[in-house]
Amino acid sequence: MRDEMMPRTAVEDLIAGMSLDEKIGQLNLLPAGEGLVTGASQPTSLSKRLDAGQVGAIFGTKSLASARAMQERALAGSRLGIPLFFAEDVIHGHRTVFPLNIALACSWDMRLIERTAAFAAAEAAAEGLHQVYGPMIDISRDPRWGRVAEGPGEDALLASRIAAAATRGFQGAGHGAAGRVAACLKHFVAYGAPQSGRDYDNVSMSAEDLLETYLPPFAAGIAAGAASVMVAFNAVNKLPMHANGPLIEGWLRGQQGFDGLVVSDYTGVKELVAHGMGPAPVAVARALHAGVDMDMVGEDYLRELPALVRDGLDAPDAGFSLSAQRLSALVDRACRRVLTFKQRLGLLDDPFRGLGGTPRAPSRSSGRKLARKAAAQSAVLLKNDGLLPLAPGTKVALIGPFATDRANMLGTWAVSGRAEDVVPLDKAIAALTSHAPATAWGANVVDEPWLEQRLNVHGTTVTRDRRSKARQLAEAVALAHSADVIVAAVGEAKEHAGESSSRLTPDLPASQRRLIAALARTGKPLVVVVFAGRPLAIGEVAAQADALLYAWHGGVGGPEGVADLIFGAAEPSGRLAVSLPRHPGEAPLTYACDTTGRPGNDRFTKFLTGWLDLPDDLPTFPFGFGLGYSDISYAAPRLSRDAVRADETVELRITIQNAGTRPAVETVQLYASDPIARVTRPGRKLIDFKQCSLAPGQRRTVTFQISSDQFRYPVAPTLETAEWVRDPGLIRLHVGPNCRDTQMKELTWLT
Ligand code: BGC
Repeated sequence: MRDEMMPRTAVEDLIAGMSLDEKIGQLNLLPAGEGLVTGASQPTSLSKRLDAGQVGAIFGTKSLASARAMQERALAGSRLGIPLFFAEDVIHGHRTVFPLNIALACSWDMRLIERTAAFAAAEAAAEGLHQVYGPMIDISRDPRWGRVAEGPGEDALLASRIAAAATRGFQGAGHGAAGRVAACLKHFVAYGAPQSGRDYDNVSMSAEDLLETYLPPFAAGIAAGAASVMVAFNAVNKLPMHANGPLIEGWLRGQQGFDGLVVSDYTGVKELVAHGMGPAPVAVARALHAGVDMDMVGEDYLRELPALVRDGLDAPDAGFSLSAQRLSALVDRACRRVLTFKQRLGLLDDPFRGLGGTPRAPSRSSGRKLARKAAAQSAVLLKNDGLLPLAPGTKVALIGPFATDRANMLGTWAVSGRAEDVVPLDKAIAALTSHAPATAWGANVVDEPWLEQRLNVHGTTVTRDRRSKARQLAEAVALAHSADVIVAAVGEAKEHAGESSSRLTPDLPASQRRLIAALARTGKPLVVVVFAGRPLAIGEVAAQADALLYAWHGGVGGPEGVADLIFGAAEPSGRLAVSLPRHPGEAPLTYACDTTGRPGNDRFTKFLTGWLDLPDDLPTFPFGFGLGYSDISYAAPRLSRDAVRADETVELRITIQNAGTRPAVETVQLYASDPIARVTRPGRKLIDFKQCSLAPGQRRTVTFQISSDQFRYPVAPTLETAEWVRDPGLIRLHVGPNCRDTQMKELTWLT
């Protein structure tokens, strides 16, 4: 129900009795001062604000006791006894840290994603949290952007399913349910497509791309009942998102029917000033008008709104005016949404909901088990020349800066995780095989001392072997000679990826590449494990390795999941949720790019869409790609009919067989292309996928129900005038184990 039409409720009664200052206080969202600072911090003490009834919610409390104390103080400071709600960044787990979201996306397992979110919700709720700033559902096709780590990858369909699964996991039957929390979809919108991959940078894109690629995960999260949304820092097509009424009030609320809460990002309202949208009063009026209900950290609503509501705003230089009356109505609208959110959380009935009694967190050991399983399902086996799995008795030389690492395994945005919860790879292997591997460092996490220092400003995880590179390398090579198999543990630091961690060259540091080349030259079988937060260009490394496992930052169970895979205690089933670049300069990159008039990348035929200097011997790891230990064969696909009317459905059936000797999980992917359309269309677009397990020898038929709705696409001179069309004619269906290795069937939609 739209909030303007709500019957008089507890919320309306409250609003009727509130002063302007009390209403404005509800719009103020402050940090607890116990967590991460990601922007300009505020000088005013939280206690002073609480006593004056000037806080609507707090994020970043670190214990039930501290949340409870703040609630008591807020209630004492509020004439009408309006409680706070508590929020936190729960991105890929809470105390139990699961693999990065980009890693979880590679599991393509929605049940797993829902379970990890539900577990995180239970841990968060046990600490008195009511809302989490997740799921982060920013599509990103740019490996340079550091926050690709937090997101669902490059594809709209996969991301949409993830948005729905994670929302269900966080919220359960409803966000007021015990042991669950309210989800907050972020960052609205297109934050994952900044210019040149630079964090916070602006986005210019067609309304078609916005509608077809970047907005669908938000639509899916809302359809799954997500209770709140966080606005992105960037501008989209010249209008900063914190002032973007057409997208917030227009698309999100108007077109999608979202009736929840919209919060700003950290100082996002204030940043409208730097965006050139006008001085603070104009920024505030614009944000409130655009539909940003709560102002996180900046306190600009608190500072500017009293005078704005008294005097109104007339800023001809900024091209923006609002009457005092309109501003007063906008304050009411935002306050109503905040109070409705609190009501839905059950806080208006019981201000101590979730804050009383003793915390009832789920069992940590069950969380660890889930985290280990999730890590094994999230890692993607990219190459295996028959080397893996290793026999338990294999004498392993474990080499590389991540061989004994704990802290980096947590990955970015693990604000409540603890490094001591991680079992590092050397210990994980020892526990699984009863043989402790000999380890050597071999190279540093980063080569440049200045970069190391910069990363350490944000964390303390980048430690360095102070010995010369030559000595480190010599020791590693000597160790390699003494073993049966080398396992090289390489990758990025957790601060390398994440917020404000864009990189020009998404590849492995040079010393790690040198290490791998030196290890390959020993002639010993070489397994390379990459722990990273982004898709790195690892083509060269792949060519040198006998086996290559892309393990991301896998959380508390990350290294154990890797050990399980390497020694065959678990079967690899991960599939890339992002394309890995062949060369760092390929960014941005997606399998789903629109066709051009000169397709191809043959450097001997010039004047094609491609690069002159992209080496053509680099292996490619396309979207959807991943290997297992078994051998899955695909029979020819069959269509129930090859010409159908637009209102009919058609079935595509394909039989797959596990022709190997090990159990397997296969993700059958269905793509489509529309060779004749009104606007350029992607060469391939994922329209469905199904995952199934297969015992050795087992054969299964996978059926896809296809309707013409799956081929609708937007034609959109502007967002407001967009039309979703569905043309009759030819569609090509491509089915297979990834976006490249597919078989094709043609289908005709009749008028
Ligand atoms: C990030 C958000 C996060 C917020 C609060 C910002 O810097 O962009 O994703 O939820 O901080 O910690």
